[in-house]
Amino acid sequence: MGSLPRNPQPVCRSDAIPEGTGRLVRVSGREVAVFNDGGRFFAVLDRCPHAGASLARGWVEEGAVVCPLHRWRFRLEDGRCESQGGEDIPAFSSEERGGWVWVWVEEPPGGRGPRAK
Ligand code: FES
Repeated sequence: MGSLPRNPQPVCRSDAIPEGTGRLVRVSGREVAVFNDGGRFFAVLDRCPHAGASLARGWVEEGAVVCPLHRWRFRLEDGRCESQGGEDIPAFSSEERGGWVWVWVEEPPGGRGPRAK
């Protein structure tokens, strides 16, 4: 895949993601699902480990994304699967700045970046 950028990438306008929903974006060749949870933005790998559904088509409940196929839940903060042990997904640092959502897909010097493997 080549080396990934260490800097955050602007992935979409923040007002393009209604509260409680997600959006699929591509960051450095990875499909990433970005969610708006009460005005805070979170980014996780888009693929559900159960049967491969796009998590961007899911919805937000109590700080977790609910998979649209069989309703497994993944914490937005760190990608931890609340439904099944050992099925955590990668979560990426993100922030809203200047009307855009920015996502880190690699750990930069100083510690911001992916929070789960
Ligand atoms: S594909 Fe996500 S819970 Fe089954």
